[in-house]
Amino acid sequence: MGKTFAVIGDPINHSLSPNIHSAAFRELNLDCSYIAYRIPKGELEEGIESLKKIKIDGFNVTIPHKIEMMKYLDKIDESCSLIGAVNTVVNNDGILKGYNTDMEGFLEPIKKKKINIADSNVLLLGAGGAARAIVAGFAKEKAKSITIANRTIEKANDLVEFAQKISLNANSITIEQVKDTAKNYNIIVNATSIGLQNESSLISLDGINDKTVVYDIVYMPLNTDFLKKAKEKNAIVIFGYEMLLGQAIRAFEIWHSMEAPYNAMKKALLGGF
Ligand code: ATR
Repeated sequence: MGKTFAVIGDPINHSLSPNIHSAAFRELNLDCSYIAYRIPKGELEEGIESLKKIKIDGFNVTIPHKIEMMKYLDKIDESCSLIGAVNTVVNNDGILKGYNTDMEGFLEPIKKKKINIADSNVLLLGAGGAARAIVAGFAKEKAKSITIANRTIEKANDLVEFAQKISLNANSITIEQVKDTAKNYNIIVNATSIGLQNESSLISLDGINDKTVVYDIVYMPLNTDFLKKAKEKNAIVIFGYEMLLGQAIRAFEIWHSMEAPYNAMKKALLGGF
């Protein structure tokens, strides 16, 4: 019998995950389907019950459920417990096991560009579920320091505490304080969801240069204002789609226990723009 997968979140209509996974199924002739399922904030429990009823085989989790989803897992992979957020779930006869593929998905394009994370001072904008995975990634790769800026400073402080616990030198600042500080960092990451609302970016990129890495995890639009500004400064730009692809490939491999068809998935992803 064919297998069914989904991505849950809100908003979800813009999600490219169905395109990416469906392309992989076609490429490998797998009898599987993948749907986008909108579950509003506050309705996660009922949403998961309905997924169990239709015997979903696995699902991805996105905004705003990545942290809350932890409560509904029966088993938790190490990747998931470290980050405290989940983006990939396997359903084995009603037993839900959570994974987090965001950290490796995030690191992959940085490593591909041979950027030396160990000597880098990092600025991270945002302190949600995705930001936690990113902090864990920089801790794993032993970044020199991380500064976390967030609209809600308490959440930035919580993330600093988390970073310090996993031996990453960290401090927090407010969005107002961050405005003109871009030049102090080697790697600048936008992990807020701000591009989703198509608002302008949170920080001026004055003073950065062609060695500065600017990474936006927002992938819709492909070319966010943040990345456009970075390109004007000749910075090394990493697109949100690259992380999306990285995490999708790892999720595919968890669900199907076989190598993911990278090129077909990338082509499908970029075709969606
Ligand atoms: P994800 O799982 O993708 O990280 P999330 O947990 O909902 O999503 O986090 C969204 C991030 O975007 C948060 O850092 C949020 O800031 P707050 O913690 O202050 O809510 C940030 N964000 C969303 N909309 C924003 C806005 N209009 N201005 C500034 N930050 C915003």
